[in-house]
Amino acid sequence: MCTDTIDQKNACLDEILASRRSYRMFRSEFPPDDAIRRIIHAGLLAPFAAAAVGNSTDYFRRFFVMRKGSRSMAAASPLVMEQVKVMEQGIETEMKKNPHLRTKAVSFVQRLTAMRKMGRVPGIGTAPFYIVVAERKGFPSVEQQSLAHCLENMWLKATALNLGFQMVSVTAQMSSDPAFCRILGIPAGEWELMGCAIGYAQEELGPSVRPPVEDVTLWLE
Ligand SMILES: Cc1cc2nc3c(=O)[nH]c(=O)nc-3n(C[C@H](O)[C@H](O)[C@H](O)COP(=O)(O)O)c2cc1C
Repeated sequence: MCTDTIDQKNACLDEILASRRSYRMFRSEFPPDDAIRRIIHAGLLAPFAAAAVGNSTDYFRRFFVMRKGSRSMAAASPLVMEQVKVMEQGIETEMKKNPHLRTKAVSFVQRLTAMRKMGRVPGIGTAPFYIVVAERKGFPSVEQQSLAHCLENMWLKATALNLGFQMVSVTAQMSSDPAFCRILGIPAGEWELMGCAIGYAQEELGPSVRPPVEDVTLWLE
């Protein structure tokens, strides 16, 4: 049991919250498997939508760990890139018909185009580990919200372990891709997915910059 005082606990928590950053450049050496297990354990401790997942005896949250250079990573990577191209074309077609969407989606499409031109999806094969987290579909469909809690816990734990962490949100688009789901060993369309990349950061980033609380908070009467 931790015997730190409340002040000491808060000093540590505040330090971890402030130093959590998105890392996008990783060193090639692998962090120990035990660190990955501890990060997954932190994800398991995250809240979940109990009413939505029901009381199936088959656990509703799963983690799939792929290593850089592995067979699974080599199989998954081109499938995700294919999905990037499909999304890029689909949104561009929609943007031609819908000028409002054009203004809204332009930077997202630019990002998809950059990935296509680079020929790789950042986080998949660019870090030692790519982890896919799956949450079984329930009712109402709040799996992505639940996954966000899980990923945030994993992110904070990675930060506490001094590891770099990157969200790989295009993973969400792979949930109904039969070939991708076959790699994970789950049926396509029954689970929602989110992904992240983990490894030692190439360079440490400074703390996050955010507006002061008073600038964005309204205390209502
Ligand atoms: C829902 C969501 C999806 C994100 N997807 C990605 C992603 O696919 N790739 C990436 O590099 N960062 C991704 N990010 C990270 C954000 O870009 C990042 O958190 C934001 O720029 C603030 O930077 P910081 O995390 O260093 O504080 C995502 C963040 C969220 C909350």
